Amino acid sequence: MMDLFQWFGKNFKLKTMKKLIFATGNKGKLKEVKKIFENTDYKIISLYDLGDVPEIIEDGNTYEANSLIKAKAIYNIHKLPVIADDSGLSVEQLNGVPGVYSARYAGENCTYDDNNQKLIKELAKFDEPHNAKFVCSAVFFDGENIKKAFGELHGEIISEFKGTHGFGYDPVFVPKDSDRTLAEFSSEEKNKISHRAIAFNTLKKLLEN
Ligand code: IMP
Repeated sequence: MMDLFQWFGKNFKLKTMKKLIFATGNKGKLKEVKKIFENTDYKIISLYDLGDVPEIIEDGNTYEANSLIKAKAIYNIHKLPVIADDSGLSVEQLNGVPGVYSARYAGENCTYDDNNQKLIKELAKFDEPHNAKFVCSAVFFDGENIKKAFGELHGEIISEFKGTHGFGYDPVFVPKDSDRTLAEFSSEEKNKISHRAIAFNTLKKLLEN
């Protein structure tokens, strides 16, 4: 006769959710990554849930170094598994600039709008197309193990702002084979192709294995 435990195991998949802190204060990224980890065994905890979004000095020279700096800093505070990313925009005609400085391209405390204005101004000196790519390094750290994943999204920068969705350089970035900026994509559409989606989907697979 089937005992109660066997019957329960057969009829109900007991899910223990594993907590993963996402080390970001960027609500745009948080929304994107929460969506990627929906329907998995992982529950994404934000720094807002924990009541503190500490300022972390990202002084690495690469996206990977910066993502690890963020993951380790947050792990050291909360002692729970952490995922983190570092991302940015690399423009061919500007030799990869703004790169790891994407967030503060137009100066400390600048807005997304300031960055986009500066980018358009710098690129006005060059012929079109202004080829560019978004890059994302995503990492996991649990105090012992490190897992790393990477994603890129190629496209071009246009000289006018279009769309209201997303964040950062989305209003001036047109992905390859598209006639819309990323800010004209819905969050679901962006999450299918973005550098962050590629990196975190790969990281998710590494964690599930
Ligand atoms: P991070 O928070 O240090 O990774 O800085 C990333 C910066 O790169 C952001 O502040 C944005 O300016 C830019 N960036 C990264 N990912 C995206 C994106 O998906 N869309 C638009 N801008 C992005």
